[in-house]
Amino acid sequence: MTDDKTAHVVVVGNEKGGTGKSTIAMHMAVAFANAGGRVGVVDLDPRQRSVSRFVENRLETARKTGVALAAPTVYPMSGQSIEELAAVAMAAIREQDLVIIDTPGSATDLSKAGHVFADTLITPLNDSFIDLDVLGRVEPETYKVLRPSHYAELVWETRKERAMANRAPLRWFVLRNRLSHLDARNKRAMEEAIAALAARIGFTPVAGLGERVIYRELFLSGLTLLDVRTPGVAIDLSVSHIAARQELRALFNAVGFTDIIAAA
Ligand SMILES: Nc1ncnc2c1ncn2[C@@H]1O[C@H](COP(=O)(O)OP(=O)(O)O)[C@@H](O)[C@H]1O
Ligand SMILES: [Mg+2]
Repeated sequence: MTDDKTAHVVVVGNEKGGTGKSTIAMHMAVAFANAGGRVGVVDLDPRQRSVSRFVENRLETARKTGVALAAPTVYPMSGQSIEELAAVAMAAIREQDLVIIDTPGSATDLSKAGHVFADTLITPLNDSFIDLDVLGRVEPETYKVLRPSHYAELVWETRKERAMANRAPLRWFVLRNRLSHLDARNKRAMEEAIAALAARIGFTPVAGLGERVIYRELFLSGLTLLDVRTPGVAIDLSVSHIAARQELRALFNAVGFTDIIAAA
């Protein structure tokens, strides 16, 4: 990266807990680090600290096993002040090729402030109308969009701020996480409702990730499915794991991640 370039900022956000924000943030960060890019992580969830803990676990595994694991740099926040976030984010943007900001599942001021840095926003949803409700109200039966909800309004505000600052438009991607193979009817209904909402509130729907135990299992070691080719890393490659890797790759391609890696 040359000095006049600044990092691309990805915010993973949704005002809802447990949708896979931290899981996706970790996998993107590791994919980028493994590709040789410089990646910084800002963790705006002071209660769960999932991404920070994941990186700590990764460094510990590297130390214990002697395997050279590429890792993102965590930019720690000591408190919840927006001034501190601005300083931390600006340092990360200056020093890295990619910055990933992970946000909590609630509308804190800090989370809102974090969204303003986003060049790309990735919003994972569980495959459920309860999760969709955070983006917009849809009419039962017809899935007609009645009105955008609070998170869509936050994104709208963020877009306005970017436009006023003459920055390039925000790219917003929504994906469904923890997809089950069993629930075909709900899946179709969600697809229809998401397509209607996408047109109304301006996001791009992208293919999501299936429900797979591996995402939970690897947390303690700080390893991911993207590490299986690293010499010395022992992860069994089952059919399910191969499918999971393909889903991750498809997700990264869909959000333009491959281009971000190429530009770094
Ligand atoms: N595709 C998936 N399959 C199975 N478990 C998942 C998947 N994505 C996330 N999880 C699990 O769901 C829980 C919530 O995920 P997390 O990334 O912490 O969500 P958030 O950051 O949005 O609160 C965690 O236990 C995580 O391991
Ligand atoms: Mg989280």
